Amino acid sequence: MKLAIVGHGYVGLVTACVFAHLGNDVWVIGHTAEKLKRLQSGDPIIFEPGLEELLQKNLEAKRLRFTSDFTEALQGAAVVFIGVGTPPKQNGEADLAAVLGVAEHIGKHLTNPYTVISCKSTVPVGTNLKVAEIITRVKKPEVQFDVASCPEFLREGTALGDTLHPDRIVIGSNSKTAIDTLLKLHKPIDGERIITNLASAELIKYASNAMLATKISFANMIANLAEASNANVDEVLHAVGMDKRIGRLFLYPGVGYGGSCLPKDVKALIHTGESFGVDMALLKEVDQINISARKKILKKIKEMDDTKHIAIWGLAFKPDTDDIRESPPLHIIHELLEDGYHITVYDPEAMENVKKQMGSKITYAKTSYDAVKDADLLLILTEWNEFKQIDLTAVHKLMRNPAIIDGRNIYDPATIREKGFSYVSVGRP
Ligand code: UDX
Repeated sequence: MKLAIVGHGYVGLVTACVFAHLGNDVWVIGHTAEKLKRLQSGDPIIFEPGLEELLQKNLEAKRLRFTSDFTEALQGAAVVFIGVGTPPKQNGEADLAAVLGVAEHIGKHLTNPYTVISCKSTVPVGTNLKVAEIITRVKKPEVQFDVASCPEFLREGTALGDTLHPDRIVIGSNSKTAIDTLLKLHKPIDGERIITNLASAELIKYASNAMLATKISFANMIANLAEASNANVDEVLHAVGMDKRIGRLFLYPGVGYGGSCLPKDVKALIHTGESFGVDMALLKEVDQINISARKKILKKIKEMDDTKHIAIWGLAFKPDTDDIRESPPLHIIHELLEDGYHITVYDPEAMENVKKQMGSKITYAKTSYDAVKDADLLLILTEWNEFKQIDLTAVHKLMRNPAIIDGRNIYDPATIREKGFSYVSVGRP
């Protein structure tokens, strides 16, 4: 099948590489010449395990092309996916300018007798109808199309596996032809098929991310209570999660959730709910608890006397990505700088992105060990495996004061104290 995909971020590029890998002829549309050139030469631009290899393999096989030319890309495409960003506006609402702008471009350049236009971007309820309205307004009269919502549930760091082996494939459309075309396209991919109307599919994506965020904020709330009452949050949530109705995943407390999706999607869903007159108090609290999680770490730091030089391990919003969008570590660093701390950072992948944003305000270490040299405190903010397997005796020797605040609970408190560290974690005695 020939496919066109507008957008080459996490969603667009991963979708493109996976469908090309499955034998389709995939055209990716972007508008920045320099980025298209890099992609066409095999550089995925973003860091995602396995993506570079898949990109290069499919470029070689000529199943993948990058272009800024809508006419060429859309010609003969059975499905056109929209995979551009929906960043938050100041009031939390999702900014649909890119999605609606792309809809107009698609409409103007459609020449096929029939095309399925499917949105993979996370968009509020009603957006696909707006996309359909725009295309209807600008398209040539002889051209036919249907819209479908086909939300993407991939996580950064495991994006390829998530796309090839998803728990479910959601297809929302009011058109049987569109649903059948998308079912055919997804045939080689596992996962239960869920066919819905447009609005349900749009809401499923937000509701899923809001539920994940709710679990994390719930875990952080229980961690606060555990800390206050001498309970151990690990033991509590392990037992809670063993109930099959609840499940253990996404019940890990820490410095809160970040990334390009959860924070913005929670805010956007609050905004959508309120625009329909629905009380969204639960999600407002989820958002607040998430902010308090990082404030709590800051409070713990300020309670430590004689701390001036802080080493930070972990800058990405989670391991296995270089993404620092809405990363809790970055929020924490900004506040620490305002209070005059000297900060040395290390992250296995996210250093370059942080340098672009923070410049010379902080010091960049080459290794985890370099970062802790002469530090008064080590702050762990992302749970990279490298930190879990570190030589703690060497770390102890390098620090001026062997103190650790572990924002991701990666160490066993008893073991680490035996090594001579003062150790504070989240929700554990
Ligand atoms: C998320 C959704 O999981 C995915 O389905 C959707 O398509 C995009 O948004 P992603 O942003 O890649 O994916 O990250 P995810 O793995 O969900 O983690 C989000 C944040 O939650 C991270 O900052 C992570 O550190 C934090 N988290 C996760 C916790 O603090 N505790 C947990 O138990 C789990």
